[in-house]
Amino acid sequence: MPRLSRLLLSPPACRDPAALRNVAAGRTVLVTGASSGIGAAAARQLGQAGATTLMLARRPDRLEAVAAQIRAAGGQAQVYPADLGDPAQVEAVARAILADHPQLDAVVSNAGRSVRRRAQDGAPKADLPRLLGVNFSGPAALLLALRPALARGSVLINVSSVSARHIGAPRWGAYQGSKAGFDLWLQAAAAEWPGVHVASVYLPLVRTPMSAPTRLYRCLPALSDDEAAQAVLFPLVRPVVRVAPWWLRGAELASLLAPAALGRGLRALERLERRWETRP
Ligand SMILES: NC(=O)c1ccc[n+]([C@@H]2O[C@H](COP(=O)([O-])OP(=O)(O)OC[C@H]3O[C@@H](n4cnc5c(N)ncnc54)[C@H](OP(=O)(O)O)[C@@H]3O)[C@@H](O)[C@H]2O)c1
Repeated sequence: MPRLSRLLLSPPACRDPAALRNVAAGRTVLVTGASSGIGAAAARQLGQAGATTLMLARRPDRLEAVAAQIRAAGGQAQVYPADLGDPAQVEAVARAILADHPQLDAVVSNAGRSVRRRAQDGAPKADLPRLLGVNFSGPAALLLALRPALARGSVLINVSSVSARHIGAPRWGAYQGSKAGFDLWLQAAAAEWPGVHVASVYLPLVRTPMSAPTRLYRCLPALSDDEAAQAVLFPLVRPVVRVAPWWLRGAELASLLAPAALGRGLRALERLERRWETRP
């Protein structure tokens, strides 16, 4: 990413492989959604840093491909295929992880799904339950099932989005609601969980298969999957509770002080985008 965009976009990040190695070598870290995008990049960085990297997602072939890259570079990786949207699979995969690894030093809750559809145009009814399952209830159930392995000092990282921190935007209801819901749930759970450290990472736009289908995003500056993974792993090297680009505070303040004006702005942008999308 060009220097100016990086300056404008980037959240704090762990760009020093030696710093990551200091904290990750010999540790066991579970990364969900490790078969693609940010999760795969985070798993590779952890593997390179000497962590035993446990990788969860639905597609075993993709997980195995990332695990093979980690092993080829001298790291250790183990794959756990499971669908976070299926409560029975969540329970079963947690039992398998606990049987293999009685202690987890960190869990990166990264798996996620994004749907960008106008509810008013009759977005499929399944959107909301599906996103709530993958982005909220599934990861919450997984962490609760893994409690026996999460001891004092374990770090739980939530890969969230800047959109979870500002007012609702057109087309984003199911995504924003599920991401914000899990974030709040995790912060509340952490308050009852002595010694476990929780950090939320609010990412801006990242170039991955998730953001690829949106035409408009191809013209906007974005982080690469590796740059985003460096931000995601930052809470392992610094005891922060929040990682976000500096400009997110401005959006949060605008949501608080001028929600109506911000809402009008977001609706105007959406109307422009619709016109642009339907251009011949
Ligand atoms: N890309 C962005 O612009 C952006 C911005 C802010 C935040 N984020 C967040 O970053 C995280 C990673 O997204 P990404 O951009 O890297 O997207 P991605 O490339 O589409 O990766 C999503 C990952 O989640 C896994 N996943 C999806 N549904 C799942 C399910 N039901 N059970 C288990 N795993 C599932 C996918 O694996 P399988 O398909 O193999 O299951 C994949 O590994 C998400 O939480 C997203 O909300 C992304």
